[in-house]
Amino acid sequence: MRAPWTRRRRLLPGLLALACLATVAVAAAVPLSTPSARAADPVPVLDATFEDGTTQGFRPRAGETVAVSTAVAHGGTRSLLTSGRTASWQGPAIDLLDEMVEGTRYTLTVWVRLAAGESPGQVRLSVQRDSGGTSAYDQVVGDTAVTADAWVRLSGTYVLAHDVDGLSAYVETAGGTAGLHLDDFTMAYQPTRPVQTDIPALREVLATDFPIGAAIGNRQIIGDQAVLLRRHFDTVTPGNALKWDATQPTEGAFRWADADTQVGFATGNGLSVRGHTLVWHQQTPAWVFTDTDGTPLTSDPADKALLLSRLEAHIRAVVGRYGDAIGVWDVANEVIDENQSDGLRRSRWYEISGLDYLRTAFRVAREVAPTAKLYINDYNTNVPAKRDKLRDLVTRLRAEGVPVDGVGHQMHVNVQWPSIAETEAMLQAFIPLGVEQQVTEMDVSIYVANDESFPTPPADRLLTQAYRYRDLFALYRRYADELTSVTLWGLADDDTWLDTFPVARKDAPLLFDTELQAKSAYWGIVDPTRIDPTPTPTASPTASPTATPTTGLDTCRATYTVTNQWPGGFQASLRITNTGVAAHDGWTVRWRFPDGQLVSQLWNGTVRQDGPEVTVTPTSWNSALPAGGTVEFGFLAGWKTSNNRPVGFTLDGLTCTTG
Ligand code: XIL
Repeated sequence: MRAPWTRRRRLLPGLLALACLATVAVAAAVPLSTPSARAADPVPVLDATFEDGTTQGFRPRAGETVAVSTAVAHGGTRSLLTSGRTASWQGPAIDLLDEMVEGTRYTLTVWVRLAAGESPGQVRLSVQRDSGGTSAYDQVVGDTAVTADAWVRLSGTYVLAHDVDGLSAYVETAGGTAGLHLDDFTMAYQPTRPVQTDIPALREVLATDFPIGAAIGNRQIIGDQAVLLRRHFDTVTPGNALKWDATQPTEGAFRWADADTQVGFATGNGLSVRGHTLVWHQQTPAWVFTDTDGTPLTSDPADKALLLSRLEAHIRAVVGRYGDAIGVWDVANEVIDENQSDGLRRSRWYEISGLDYLRTAFRVAREVAPTAKLYINDYNTNVPAKRDKLRDLVTRLRAEGVPVDGVGHQMHVNVQWPSIAETEAMLQAFIPLGVEQQVTEMDVSIYVANDESFPTPPADRLLTQAYRYRDLFALYRRYADELTSVTLWGLADDDTWLDTFPVARKDAPLLFDTELQAKSAYWGIVDPTRIDPTPTPTASPTASPTATPTTGLDTCRATYTVTNQWPGGFQASLRITNTGVAAHDGWTVRWRFPDGQLVSQLWNGTVRQDGPEVTVTPTSWNSALPAGGTVEFGFLAGWKTSNNRPVGFTLDGLTCTTG
């Protein structure tokens, strides 16, 4: 049922909306912190400017007051003021149940500032989803600094991936109860490109070497992501859903919704599952290390016994629940600290129990899952000092009879580091121990320093990344007898933990780009001869200075593709490559439609149509088109009796070749 408020709203074109509905499947909801750098411009679905003097569907979450205000405005003369908050989670909310189509990516954007006189604070944009009487909360945009003096923009993308009874977006504060203004809220549909079906499946390319896996969340098991996942991968690792904070946030109260959904998806689709992780110093709730009266546990025997009994109960519950569905467990994660003389991380686990937490964890896991392979997993295992400490620990535990079957190398690496030789030494170091080895969390960051940040991945970084994937996978394949699987920490660049770690910036560490298209990194593994030596993901001032023109002629190439067509309408994309030697900054692209087609909506550019003549000029961020660069835009259009391809493509008046 539509809620009884009035506000300005625009719906998706009917057929696109229907196409989206067809993707509905199982699963849960997924926030993404950063909108994709390459995504097409969003198509507006809903907005609220408060200029009509109503709250346009915004309501209080609980007891606070939400009213239109003329004190400040981001645009126009009005904003929405929330006052009388008594808790940080209170704030203005808007119901989205009737607006969001499952499995479709939306961008939510809102401008926020604090009410006059409030001290600086932090705000975030969240979504509440209600189903079966319980509520879950997803952050769309994390804590962002805000003051009473300036507007701050919160913008992030969100995909709803399962049926819900209630769904709302809201703004809250990280702490405190400051009054806040909100303005110019928009929700927009984010067009996607079809998953490529004409490229080899990774899992087939690597079939004789090792299974290939990807870390997943709820976002990866619905819609196009799920299609891509099933097509290319053999195994999955739930990236967060099996961790302690997800499965047992409070003692004895287990939450299985996300883990059940992800494991169920995997088994239902013939994908095997790596279980990650049973004992770790992070994402473990505070109660685990605290007495019932709130006192921190110590190493005294009673406290230690309590900790180990909690660990045992946890492992019995989590491993027991999935039985044979999970054949490999990262029993212990990140327990090495090479800066300690004994190499053991001083975690709360270690401080309270010494090595007994590891002994207990592996013993119990083996009891509950006798046929599962039990792993110890860590990062930087290529660093000689860390590698050797890990090797010593594994040797010691196995000598005691602790059932450690395998060593997991996370391989969170970057375009520069580590060397192939060091990586090879890492694999060799564990062979004498007689353990299995797996690469468990590989990604290749485009960054080599924490102070770097690129709005768009530079071409030279993407090229280097492709060579890194090529060389590292060539190494893995040489060691295929030792490696029982290789897993990437994510599916595509639209959703990577590196967007917020170690600092917030857009990264691009995986094989598929933000629009799920194969990158040169993918070709590095599949067929290095097809690595594009001048990758130009989009025209941008940050494009590589090393990009070279593909011909010496000052001209261009137009690649036109109809991506979807239905009676009366179609969606198409146009890619213009500057194949000349000169830059075409502030470009103008023109073409003619032969059959009376009429563009209704265009993203990544500004469109003008005069009869059959269409003219497109850049948006603010893609006006640079260097030699060798590419610009791409998409559009929705109507057609009547026929829909033949456009003709007469030009770039700044120069005739483009087509193809
Ligand atoms: C990461 C997840 O991908 C993030 O979503 C989460 O916020 C933090 O943890 N090493 C590990 C993984 O063993 O569990 C981490 O996963 C990445 C580093």
